[in-house]
Amino acid sequence: MISISIIEEIRTIINVEDSFKEQVKKVFVAYDCLSIYEHCLEVAYEAKALANTYGEDANGAFRAGLLHDIGGIVPNENRVSVATQLGIELYEEEYIIPMIIHQKISKVIAKEIFHIENPKLLTAIETHTTLHKQPSTLDHIVFLADKLKWDQTGEPPYVDELRAAMQQSLEQGSFYFVNQLYHSPSLKIVHPWLREAYERLKHMNV
Ligand SMILES: [Fe+2]
Ligand SMILES: [Fe+2]
Repeated sequence: MISISIIEEIRTIINVEDSFKEQVKKVFVAYDCLSIYEHCLEVAYEAKALANTYGEDANGAFRAGLLHDIGGIVPNENRVSVATQLGIELYEEEYIIPMIIHQKISKVIAKEIFHIENPKLLTAIETHTTLHKQPSTLDHIVFLADKLKWDQTGEPPYVDELRAAMQQSLEQGSFYFVNQLYHSPSLKIVHPWLREAYERLKHMNV
């Protein structure tokens, strides 16, 4: 059963007369997560620009970018219980590293609160941390926009190499990042979707 929980709570914050962007901002602000909103806004504009470049739905990419981290309003320690309340199925790896669950919670909020019904947008949101075994162009766009406009200060140290890889293709860009992540000594647990993304993109790069 979905508890009164997060979905009902967020509904009390939303004013449907506000613009989409303003509604999203109000939710982040209500949960004291303005810095995540600022990151999401940068990701949204980057995703929109990439979508224009690659002939994808720019408005959809913007909305997916703006919502990709909205699950971040749920603190790490509550993510397992909130996901359970929302009926989200969790992998064993997600119980160990609940940080990753934010992408799945973002998808539910996007659907339930912001009425995103397009499965392509929902998947791009849901897999922006890990990708998955068959990423669409939009999945690559949201994934890469998130990496280009990371949630820490300054430019990411890898940004030039990532942009260079993206010059070849979106897949090469994603492979650049996934490959680094997959082999990073700090990656203690490999999410099954990340493994599948790695295997697929590696195969494409052989
Ligand atoms: Fe994220
Ligand atoms: Fe993000």
